[in-house]
This record gives sequence, structure tokens and C-alpha cells, in this order.
Amino acid sequence: MPGLLLGDELPNFEVETTAGTVKLHEYFGDSWGILFSHPRDYTPVCTTELGRVARLSGEFSKRNVKLIALSVDNLEDHHGWSKDILAYNYEKSEGSELPYPIIADSKRELAVTLGMLDPVEKDKDGMPVTARCVFIIGPDKKLKLSILYPHTTGRSFDEILRVLDSLQLTAQKRVATPTEWKPGGCVMVPPNMPEDEAAALFPIGVFSKELPSGRKYLRYTPDPLDRKGCEPPPAEPELPTSLS
Ligand code: BEZ
Repeated sequence: MPGLLLGDELPNFEVETTAGTVKLHEYFGDSWGILFSHPRDYTPVCTTELGRVARLSGEFSKRNVKLIALSVDNLEDHHGWSKDILAYNYEKSEGSELPYPIIADSKRELAVTLGMLDPVEKDKDGMPVTARCVFIIGPDKKLKLSILYPHTTGRSFDEILRVLDSLQLTAQKRVATPTEWKPGGCVMVPPNMPEDEAAALFPIGVFSKELPSGRKYLRYTPDPLDRKGCEPPPAEPELPTSLS
């Protein structure tokens, strides 16, 4: 069961959530969407993760992203646990509801179809639970990025914001973003783009890094949505060849 692969359309499931019954396509509408799963309600790492997403919800809204969480627990557990998430992560004055719904996938229909189950972690009846999966869905309802973490490792949602910035930039402009890129940083010109086309598309300039191979594939240009100049990131320091 391959689950959802890059470029696949998210099936338009009708789901029971803490905000009522919704169909996923209608819920996401014309926005970007994030569907993210966690193993179980009332567990510590999940409590920190769902709280972090709640705290970052303004950042997701700024990027036109709608969020929806999922686990195999039922709605009663989701509602009860939401109060714990808020109490652990929020001051009393900050709100009494999570800013996104949680899907109750008790029959594991989405988890199985979308490949979100963790084959290692089981519930008390020996049934697999959901892993820590994140699907980023474009406004066209197609999968743009997925990650799958095991139950033992909580995710960084700052990294999810960072990759969203890259996905949204590269959906608009023919560029790619290097390691650790953040908005305003240099972007890379795709290696298959001819020099004359790159010069026309990026009039501020295309800088290429001299390399021992003599090949000119490391080409940088300023972030096209943040029209400042850019310095190519420094080369990695040389690593010692032995530990002596
Ligand atoms: C947790 O979220 O802390 C957790 C969930 C499932 C298994 C182990 C830990």
C-alpha cells in the first residue's frame, strides 16, 4: 500500500472532526492545506506537537494554509484532550479552542488509504496507530510534500513553515531553494535552464560558483520575491580526514 505519493490528488474523504463533519476538498477550499497525524491522544509528545501547531496557527494563516489534525482516537477523546493541550501550551486568557479541527479516524480509513499507519507502534489491542505524518496539499489538492516520523520523535513545525515558504515560492518562480534556505536567501537556478533564459528571467543577476570540475551548475540568484542582492552561502568548512 503505497499511500499518498507526490503529485497524487488527496481523496475527497468525508470525515468526522471536532468541528463537525467535513469533506476534505471543501474544507481546504482554494487554500494550501496541511493534514497531519499523531499516534494517540493523551500522550506527551503529541501534546507538545499539537500545542506548537496551535501557537503557530497565525503563521500558517499568513501563508494561506488551513490545518487539520488526525488520529485513530474518537471524538470524545479529541475534545477532552484538546483541553489538556490548551492548558499545557496556552495561558488561560489565550483561547478555549484549538484553532484547527482534529479528525476521528477510528476505523483507520484515511490512515490505511493514505499510508499514515506506523507498523511498529500498536495500541492495547495490537492494532497499528498513526505515525507522525505531514501532508502538504496545494490549492490544486495534489500532494506537494510529505514527511513521516516515528512515534518517538516529535516534529519541528518551524521546519514545516520553512518548507511551505519554499513550496510557495517554487510554485510561482522557476527556482529551487538550497539547504537551510529561508525567505530572502539566495535561490538556485535550475541546472537545466540555459544561460540566456536564466539571464532573461533573473535580470538582477545570476552568479555562478567556480568548482574544481569546471562545470557551472551552482548558479545563484536573489530571492525573486525579495529583490535584494544575495551572497552565495559560504562553502562548508573542510572536515578533518582523521580523528587523530
Ligand atoms: C507521545 O506522543 O508521547 C507518544 C505517543 C505514542 C507512543 C509513545 C509516545
